[in-house]
Amino acid sequence: MELKKIALLTSGGDAPGMNAAIRAVVRTAHFHGITTTGILDGYDGLVKKNFTELGPRDVRNIIQRGGTLLRSARSEAFLTKEGRTTAGANLREAGIDALITIGGGGTQAGAKQLADEQKVRLMGIASTIDNDLGGSDRTIGFDTACNTALEAIDRLRDTASSYGRIFFVEVMGRDTGFIAMHTGVAAGAEYVMVPERKENVEQLINALLNRSADKSSSIVVVAEGDQEGGAFRLAEQVKQRCPQFDIRVSVLGHLQRGGNPTMADRLLASRLGVAAVEGLIAGEEGCVVGVVKGEVAFTPHAVALTQRKSIEPDLFRLVQMLAV
Ligand code: F6P
Repeated sequence: MELKKIALLTSGGDAPGMNAAIRAVVRTAHFHGITTTGILDGYDGLVKKNFTELGPRDVRNIIQRGGTLLRSARSEAFLTKEGRTTAGANLREAGIDALITIGGGGTQAGAKQLADEQKVRLMGIASTIDNDLGGSDRTIGFDTACNTALEAIDRLRDTASSYGRIFFVEVMGRDTGFIAMHTGVAAGAEYVMVPERKENVEQLINALLNRSADKSSSIVVVAEGDQEGGAFRLAEQVKQRCPQFDIRVSVLGHLQRGGNPTMADRLLASRLGVAAVEGLIAGEEGCVVGVVKGEVAFTPHAVALTQRKSIEPDLFRLVQMLAV
């Protein structure tokens, strides 16, 4: 099917590396003689027809920048059938042959709805710091967010060991604990709490009570979506039961979403941006492009959205074993 003009948007939580993906899409399209329309403010801009033409020089000097040149937004309008009908009409009116959506689960669910209802050719690029979208072993932004959190935890370790304190550090991850578990292992944390595992406060307290007597500090990494509540709630419960502990809490929050993308994220974003455009040229559509076992892979939206990616099971054991 002919591909002369594509549109591109970023949506949902921004992630470091989105700009690198935008750059790769625009320049790959240009290389193949295809023009790119950038849609500002995600699906909201699609409904409001907030479009801008993007040439290869418009995406200069962005590969190293966090955030997204195309901005992101929540869209009430796009959640309605009427809004999506307007979105489809806007794309047709602008002569767009296919739409590329860069984002996580919410973004790709919206793309699937648009494809189903409006018969638009859709290609999703897996991007979220949470790494919780199927169709890609790693999503764009995850590596940077982990490195940002890791640097912060290393700093907290310095001050924690000066005072013999226990730090509860909350990292992002509404539904999954990828950031918590990966940074926990890398930071040498004493305990990690993730939404995937129901660990009660009792177990945590036991682990803290049974630490070596000469521990100079302890780090408990907590994913924001943990079933026992966030870091503050957990710390409060532990404090009540063990008043002898000197406890502090640090919530890293949105600083994990910003910053210059790491090399791994720039590389992933560049590969996926190129693959998204060349996949559409080759006839792929209605899917999410990602990297699976080192290779570029196209996974149908329906599969990518329902696949439950799990944290590598050995990491749970690793934390316990190495935190003596
Ligand atoms: O990008 C995903 C995420 O980082 C979640 O872990 C977090 O709960 C959420 O975004 C918060 O995003 P916002 O403040 O933009 O709603």
